[in-house]
Amino acid sequence: MTEARSHSSGTIFDSLVPQPPDAVLALIGQFREDTRAGKIDLGVGVYRNAQGRTPVFEAVKAAERALLETQETKAYLGPEGDLAFLEALEPIIFGGAVSSGDLISVQTPGGTGALRLAAELAASGKVGARVWIGTPSWPNHEQIFANAGLRISSFPYFDQRTQTIQFEAVRKALRDAEPGDLFLLHGCCHNPSGADFGEAEWAEIAQHLSARGIVPLIDLAYQGLGNGLERDVAGLQEVIANVDTAIVAYSLDKNFGLYRERTGALYVKVNGRYAEAVKSNILKAARCAWSMPPDHGAAAVRLILEDAQLKSHWRRELDLQRARLFDIRDALADADERLAPIRRQHGLFSLLAIDSEGVEALRRDHAIYMARNGRINVAGLTMDTIPAFVRALDTVLPR
Ligand code: LMR
Repeated sequence: MTEARSHSSGTIFDSLVPQPPDAVLALIGQFREDTRAGKIDLGVGVYRNAQGRTPVFEAVKAAERALLETQETKAYLGPEGDLAFLEALEPIIFGGAVSSGDLISVQTPGGTGALRLAAELAASGKVGARVWIGTPSWPNHEQIFANAGLRISSFPYFDQRTQTIQFEAVRKALRDAEPGDLFLLHGCCHNPSGADFGEAEWAEIAQHLSARGIVPLIDLAYQGLGNGLERDVAGLQEVIANVDTAIVAYSLDKNFGLYRERTGALYVKVNGRYAEAVKSNILKAARCAWSMPPDHGAAAVRLILEDAQLKSHWRRELDLQRARLFDIRDALADADERLAPIRRQHGLFSLLAIDSEGVEALRRDHAIYMARNGRINVAGLTMDTIPAFVRALDTVLPR
């Protein structure tokens, strides 16, 4: 019998330091374990209807039925994923702001996969590549970029107390950024604040990016849930039309309700000279990470976008979700004047002007769950739960 040898050091795991669980995702388990009646989940960014459910879109169900009947093979499609899906999505994102020939696209596992590829592309494209991130942002942004080897520069984006975008700080960051730096922009429905740039601000940003050769990295994960499908990309299109190089990380998790199917895409606008190098490096990075993207969500989206009837059904369903978000926002703003800014914010999120102690008190005393920074998913509320929520909030909101 071989004796198990004991090693005091030198195993492959010696350097591992335990990591805290992801703060947003940890809320899913914490909420599930809370047995109190009337608990309210405003944590992870998932749309919920008036009954508190996240149903599969009817248009998606119909597409899935069609897939079940007609799909004849599950053989690989290739590293780019479903080309027809990428093509069908393109006009929805870009309108006529860029010609197809200037775009490189690949299907990715969710928006996160697209962000990771974008970060790797930049890290291998330029020594010392840097990304500018307005804070607060989606917490995963920073670790995705840092893990891929990018340097990170932060600047203030949103003032939680006054509930305003700090546009002067954005201007300064745009001045401080160097040509070839990446500049992260939330296409619409800013996560976590819900506070988006207006038309004039987008125009100024576009002009500045183009004049300085700074590369926009636009994270677009909520198209259609802000001001509607077209208006939500007006700013993005203004930027794309004006710059030579741009990257868009797109998620269909929310606007097609495909969350766990992990459906996303990466689009890169690139000057012809670099096209081949960019494309081959993206495909190599994808091959190393997941080889080929999961098919199901993208196949369902393709069927929807290629069928006029299904497409308009999907748009109607999306519009209803957006209308519900506005209704909740209005009801919150009407209930307490300190919540008035929520009315003019967009998408699933708003960032309450409370500190982490307030967040903890709401969880402890009222079974209300939200991200530690005070971010709420407004879709987690219903007209029935708003009064209790506003009463609880009154105990922690500054007067
Ligand atoms: C969120 O911010 O809650 C969502 O984007 C889900 C996630 O992956 O964090």
